[in-house]
Amino acid sequence: MTDVRPTAGAESGVLHTLFRTDQGGHEQVVLCQDRESGLKAVIALHSTALGPALGGTRFHAYASDEEAVRDALNLSRGMSYKNALAGLDHGGGKAVIIGDPDLIKTEELLLAYGRFVASLGGRYVTACDVGTYVRDMDVVARENRWTTGRSPENGGAGDSSVLTAFGVFQGMRAAARTQWGEPTLRGRRVGVAGVGKVGHHLVEHLVEDGAEVVITDVRAEAVERITARHPQVTAVTDADVLIRTPLDVYAPCALGGALNDETVAALTATVVCGAANNQLAHPGVEKNLADRGILYAPDYVVNAGGVIQVADELHGFDFDRAKAKATKIYDTTLAIFDRAKSDGIPPAAAADRLAEQRMAEARAAR
Ligand SMILES: NC(=O)c1ccc[n+]([C@@H]2O[C@H](COP(=O)([O-])OP(=O)(O)OC[C@H]3O[C@@H](n4cnc5c(N)ncnc54)[C@H](O)[C@@H]3O)[C@@H](O)[C@H]2O)c1
Repeated sequence: MTDVRPTAGAESGVLHTLFRTDQGGHEQVVLCQDRESGLKAVIALHSTALGPALGGTRFHAYASDEEAVRDALNLSRGMSYKNALAGLDHGGGKAVIIGDPDLIKTEELLLAYGRFVASLGGRYVTACDVGTYVRDMDVVARENRWTTGRSPENGGAGDSSVLTAFGVFQGMRAAARTQWGEPTLRGRRVGVAGVGKVGHHLVEHLVEDGAEVVITDVRAEAVERITARHPQVTAVTDADVLIRTPLDVYAPCALGGALNDETVAALTATVVCGAANNQLAHPGVEKNLADRGILYAPDYVVNAGGVIQVADELHGFDFDRAKAKATKIYDTTLAIFDRAKSDGIPPAAAADRLAEQRMAEARAAR
């Protein structure tokens, strides 16, 4: 009889992750190839418990095909949790296209990708992610009905950063209420690291609410755009200086991994709430934050305004309807802080529990 036990190599392979570990449990993973256009892609559907899997298409030059599959698995799993807590009737999915977009992205390749999305018959709804843009989704959408993140001329919602910033602001109000008793940033000192598409809209909300705002960005023009409009906003040289500046709230709005052992130890703020994805550099940082009395608003909860916006596109985009949904990020964030307190766990763990609960309830109701 053939020995079917996994070899040592297989123990660490993606199939092992997929079928045998807690990190897996994906419903479906599709490998796509179109030789004529050079398309190689992976579409991972983590869960459709709440509805069709929704998540963007990342276009990236991965070091290996295995790394691409692993990224699709991780990202799609993250989308299940994000969509569940955003209150969407969508499960989690994500696609990755393998290769350098600057070198291989063509209309033929995007159309071929669109046909693979079509082949899933609505089980997967796609959108933009790193390396793909609104103009690309307009092309992908020519081959299927399940592409969002399109331009307004093509029935899409356009730039998602407006509602992302609005949602982060709602999460920050919830954190202010939990930490200081009032759902406002009035009179609080808020440091925003990264004032790009999302960060600059967030600054507008904060200024309007009466917060004292300190910003930083590696691009001088991004800083100047804000200080020219709001002379009372001050700027510091970099994020390292910002976290050491006396602050009430720290808002990471640039790249992931902003919260590590070193930055958490140096933080003066007692609330962290920002738009950046994957803010916790490694597992355990959420506990370090809690041990220091810093209230952390989980990134994937407060930055869900963008996915709420693209989900709305499927029903014919209505900004006010999407904004009303993004307003609920306030209640969701409060519920997470309450659950964290009652269960004696950090908010990041409480968010995961609430998302898992919603997915389990949906599965049980089937
Ligand atoms: N745009 C959305 O709708 C959306 C939705 C969910 C999450 N996010 C996340 O929010 C974050 C910001 O997204 P965005 O769309 O505003 O991107 P963006 O590229 O427009 O803005 C990021 C800004 O951060 C600056 N920056 C980069 N490195 C920095 C550093 N070390 N210190 C200070 N500033 C730095 C950049 O110069 C840029 O101005 C990203 O992590 C993104 O994944 C965005």
